[in-house]
Amino acid sequence: MLTRRDWITALAALAGTGLSACSQAAEPHVAIDPLKDGLPFPLGVAAMSGQLSDPVWAAIVRTHFSQITPEWEQKMEYLLLPDGQLQFDAPEALYGFARDNGMTMLGHTLIWYAQSSPWFEAVTDPVRFGRRYDQYISDIMTRFKGRTRAWDVVNEPVMDDGSGYRSCLWSDRLGLGYINRAYEVAHEADPNAVLFLNDYNLEHNPQKRLMFLKLAESLLKAGVPLGGLGTQSHIVASLAPGALQIALTDLASLGLPVHISELDISLKTGRTAMLEVRQNEARQQALVTELLETYATLPAHQRFGLTIWGARDKDSWLRRGGEDRGPMRDAPLMFDDTGNAKPLARTLKAELKRFARPV
Ligand code: XIL
Repeated sequence: MLTRRDWITALAALAGTGLSACSQAAEPHVAIDPLKDGLPFPLGVAAMSGQLSDPVWAAIVRTHFSQITPEWEQKMEYLLLPDGQLQFDAPEALYGFARDNGMTMLGHTLIWYAQSSPWFEAVTDPVRFGRRYDQYISDIMTRFKGRTRAWDVVNEPVMDDGSGYRSCLWSDRLGLGYINRAYEVAHEADPNAVLFLNDYNLEHNPQKRLMFLKLAESLLKAGVPLGGLGTQSHIVASLAPGALQIALTDLASLGLPVHISELDISLKTGRTAMLEVRQNEARQQALVTELLETYATLPAHQRFGLTIWGARDKDSWLRRGGEDRGPMRDAPLMFDDTGNAKPLARTLKAELKRFARPV
């Protein structure tokens, strides 16, 4: 049931689209055909349960996207309480929205260097720690079993400079084998889920990409049930032409499915805008074209899907930094703050048509 406030919000957004309220009530985003139409792979979006009650957000997501990745409410920081209890209300709300709108889910993420819990930190004995580690992975996979197309099992294991693998609580307690172990336990709990290794800056940093691929190769050689590679693709508009093509081609070289898992294209580097805004927007469009042109060269079985890390610019994690205020606000996504499709969305739609089957 939409509240009065919801209608005012939606109508205000409509006013910005040139569409009359009567033509597309609560569908203010439809300035372009649905981005997801006819695609042979999911077009995903990052989401948080608090966004579900926003009618403009919900209209954009149910119209343009076919898959959801929980942005942070399926991570250990949210799911695992200090006493070892698990809470699922927020991700279940996202699963409910996906179910009601015929969308698939991508699980994100089981083991990440950036997050742990007092439940784990309190245990130093490796055997006891390992039991809790296995139990957590098994409990989460079982909870969402049969409803989750794929999982980012281990997230961001490679050091930023590509010189090796991160030290973290998991590697401290279990050694680097924590990675293999996570995939083995996850696969046992849900054999049908495709299990991904996911990392960032693989386009910007060839050394990091090499180390990532070495890890993937070693997992495959060890018989670990690694099912795909996720390249987050948090890129900046100044990324050199050709870098995306080289990176994607490299990542596809192992023959595994490749998920462009967290795409956003920042107009900024550091605390300032890089180029005059119009140049940035042209660069963003050129990068989307390069990305999709290259993705189209991959064999169909390796095109796992494309996920955008948010719906509207204001939903972006890049807009939550304290420095992102005033006229030079970042605009990394496909829809603007009022829910209008940006020229970048039109570029994406045009590029996605190369994959689309007739609807
Ligand atoms: C980010 C979310 O966007 C934020 O909302 C959250 O506060 C922190 O995590 N790589 C990842 C994602 O794999 O999980 C991160 O998401 C962004 C970087």
